[in-house]
Order: sequence, then structure tokens, then C-alpha cells
Amino acid sequence: MDRRAGAGDPRPIGIFDSGVGGLTVVRAIRERLPMEPTIYVADLLHFPYGPRFQDEVRGFAIDIIRYLESRDVKLVVIACNTATAAALNHARELFEVPIVGVISPGAQAAVEATKNNRVGVISTEGTMRSQEYLHAIKEIDPMVGVYQKACPELVDIVEAGEADSPRAEEVLRRDLDDIVRLGADTLVLGCTHYPLLKPAITRLYPGSFQLVDSATTTAAKVERHLDHSRLRAAGAEPRHEILVTAVPHQFDRIAANIFGDAVHAQEVQLWEKQTT
Ligand code: DGL
Repeated sequence: MDRRAGAGDPRPIGIFDSGVGGLTVVRAIRERLPMEPTIYVADLLHFPYGPRFQDEVRGFAIDIIRYLESRDVKLVVIACNTATAAALNHARELFEVPIVGVISPGAQAAVEATKNNRVGVISTEGTMRSQEYLHAIKEIDPMVGVYQKACPELVDIVEAGEADSPRAEEVLRRDLDDIVRLGADTLVLGCTHYPLLKPAITRLYPGSFQLVDSATTTAAKVERHLDHSRLRAAGAEPRHEILVTAVPHQFDRIAANIFGDAVHAQEVQLWEKQTT
């Protein structure tokens, strides 16, 4: 491909998650890099990833990356903390295409944000069991205390379109209680579904935390990578595809809220015989 013609590298960025959560990363990427085309895959067939075994999630992630590679993406973003914890290292060994995860950008942002060296991390069970945030944060600054909490119900609440509801507030109050008592001044939203809970968190705990959102930090990392590797697109209005691996139900409605525009996800079959 001739990239000197002024169109840069027009290939899309491939992005995936188990459901609507990764769309928070897509939104951040579209805002930061408005000329980049994207292909998003929501693996609704296997949602939720959080309670599953790591090797199972890794298998789903590898299959999705293989599909994205077949679509000639220039970069893959694993827009899911659970899948990043389960598959990032392995996937980098398997594939030529560059792959970015969401954990190290969030860990870096948390270390930069904390003033009292106390960081809370909320995530799925899978991400918490992997201890990836603990290691990533301690790798940058071993003096930072990390308080982790698995909040699986919050994932279901967001996927059901109830992120800004009394139910969300009740569960947040229960789940964040320990982290508030431990005095963390920074809260990592260690699941890409959680940025949609920001209004409820801010209402419940005004000014208590610096919220670290892995969506915006990952978009910044994607920008750095594209610039460094000279992979930026330029020119034409970019095309965005949103694909789902099972019937979308609430998906289009929640996605439309995220983008402020109608979304019509297309179904894609990635597995011959459907596994659940
Ligand atoms: N959004 C995902 C994450 O960041 C996973 C939620 C789930 O499928 O349990 O971990």
C-alpha cells in the first residue's frame, strides 16, 4: 500500500469486548482520532466474561482477534479488562498485528492521579483474580497501596441499560463502601462497562475520588502508537462497523445513548457451532 498519497493508512482499528462496555473505548477513540475507521465486535454470545475461566476467555479473545485480522485491521484494542488480563500476552505471541490492552494505561493513569498513594480498583472477578492491576501499578510505583474489589453485578446493571438508576446507586454504595473507608483518593474503573456509572458514582461520592477511566487512557495510548508507527488515517470520512455475536436485545439502545446517535449492530457468526 502506498501511504505517501495523503490518505495515511486507511485500514480500520479492530476493537472488542463482551458487550456494550467496550463502546466506551470506541467513543474515546472516535473523539480523539476522528479520521480513524473502526470495527467493533461485542461478544454477546459469551457475555459476561467476568465469571469465566481465564483459558475460556482467552480462547474467545484469540478467535475474535483472528477474525479482526482477517478484516485487515492495522491495530487491535482489547477493550475489555477481563480479556486483557486473560489474553493480551498470549495474543501478542500469536499475532503479527499490534495489540493494545486496557490495563496498563489505567494503571499508569492511577499512579499519576493519586496524591495519598491509595488506589481502589473495581473490576470483574476475572480481572481481580488475575491480579494484573496490582502488578501493573506496583511495577510503576511499589509504594502505592491497591485495594481491589470485584463488582460483577455492576456489569449486568450496565448491560441492562440501568447505569443511572436507583439499583445502580444501591449496588455502588455496597460495593464501594470498603474502598471509601480505606481512604483511597483514586478509583480505577477497571472494567470498560463502568465509565457509564460515572454520573451515579459522582452523585454518591462527590469529590471523593479521581476517577480513572480506562477508555480515555487507552485512546491516548492508541494515538501514541499510531503516531509512533505512522499508521494514522487521513482524508475520507471514516466508516464504523458495530458487530455482535448474538441477538442484540438492549444493545442498540444503550449504544445509541453512548454515541448520541442511532446504532444498528449487525450480527456476525464467528463460531461454527455456537458455544455458550
Ligand atoms: N467490559 C469487560 C471488562 O472490562 C467485561 C465485562 C464482563 O463481560 O464480565 O472486564
